[in-house]
Amino acid sequence: MACVLLTGGNGYIGSHTTAVLSERGHDVIILDNFSNSGRDVPDRLRRLTGKTFPIIEADIRDTATVTAALAEFPIDAVIHFAALKAVGESEADPLLYYDMNIVGTIRLLEAMQARNIRRIVFSSSATVYGQPDFSPIPEDAPTRVQNIYGRTKLVMENLITDLARTGKLLGAANLRYFNPVGAHPSAMIGETPAGVPNNLMPYVCQVASGIRPFLQVFGSDYDTPDGTGVRDYIHVMDLAQAHAAAVEHLLANDTAFTVNLGTGIGISVLDLVHAFEHANKRKIEYKIVPRRPGDVASYFANPEAAEKLLGWKARLGIEEMCRDAWVWEAKRGGINDV
Ligand code: NAD
Ligand code: UFG
Repeated sequence: MACVLLTGGNGYIGSHTTAVLSERGHDVIILDNFSNSGRDVPDRLRRLTGKTFPIIEADIRDTATVTAALAEFPIDAVIHFAALKAVGESEADPLLYYDMNIVGTIRLLEAMQARNIRRIVFSSSATVYGQPDFSPIPEDAPTRVQNIYGRTKLVMENLITDLARTGKLLGAANLRYFNPVGAHPSAMIGETPAGVPNNLMPYVCQVASGIRPFLQVFGSDYDTPDGTGVRDYIHVMDLAQAHAAAVEHLLANDTAFTVNLGTGIGISVLDLVHAFEHANKRKIEYKIVPRRPGDVASYFANPEAAEKLLGWKARLGIEEMCRDAWVWEAKRGGINDV
């Protein structure tokens, strides 16, 4: 069993990974500055798992505090979630993104090096592929970042790969997530977007709960089976299991790798709307509106490498994703007839 430090462990994917690691017998330490996650999450995690996880409230750029924190616990590996993640904001404030994501990662790696912690799992994104030539996308497809957020992810991947190549890190995993959705089936933790959701599933949930009158479907003239955008949605619990598998793999093998985390199944916007209606018996009103600038028509993963390397594959389908996303949303909104 390992002791794993999760930067950003209080956030959406980090909190689900905390629950899964704990269930698999690992000790979890959370480092988070609470800039994009709730103060209620630690208590929710305690009620869900029956365990209290040590929390270091710090910014990853604060090397002195992070180094001191790393000395306090016998940490075997770090999972690095902490980052800013909004594409639009990254274009509006590039220096903020370069500082938080890239400088922050360098500071974290320095602190790890000072404490001789030499294994890291990194949250990357399918956004590094930009507009792919074809799907399913293999890991050796060209990377064509289209925005500053994506560029920071690619720089951080390269940074981590270089440290592994030069022997500074013993274990390094770059995990390229496709579209994470859903929530823990207990509905005790989930995603809490601030303001109007940008992403499809949280928006659909808010239409279901009556917060928003209808979904805007951004474009129905794409070259896809029904004309709407196609993505590879992955249940956050499957994603959390993949992180546990990646950490366990790094602890057993000195190795560096980059893998896609997706289901390999392309789902259109209208497929998702219909799956949601079917799973939750709620009507989702929608209107077709023009394309959203910058959107890609279609992309989905080739997920075979993760299965081969880690013995991991996604198990939950779009129905479970819609069901768990909705139960979490409904419970938060006090809707009782779910
Ligand atoms: P999130 O915002 O819910 O979680 C990030 C956590 O990091 C938050 O708790 C936040 O408070 C914390 N944090 C941010 N900056 C920090 C800093 N400087 N120091 C310490 N803590 C800090 O986001 P998420 O959806 O859980 O994403 C986790 C990671 O996965 C991010 O790196 C993100 O870029 C990546 N990712 C997310 C998606 C997605 O669609 N959610 C897709 C691909 C990749
Ligand atoms: N969509 C709508 N209406 C909405 C929101 C989205 O029709 O209100 C459509 C989009 O046009 C797209 C699909 O739903 O076809 C998915 O859109 P999302 O915003 O949910 O997800 P994206 O694939 O655009 O982007 C997400 C993250 C990015 C990340 C990328 C790849 O937001 O940060 O996945 O991991 F880079």
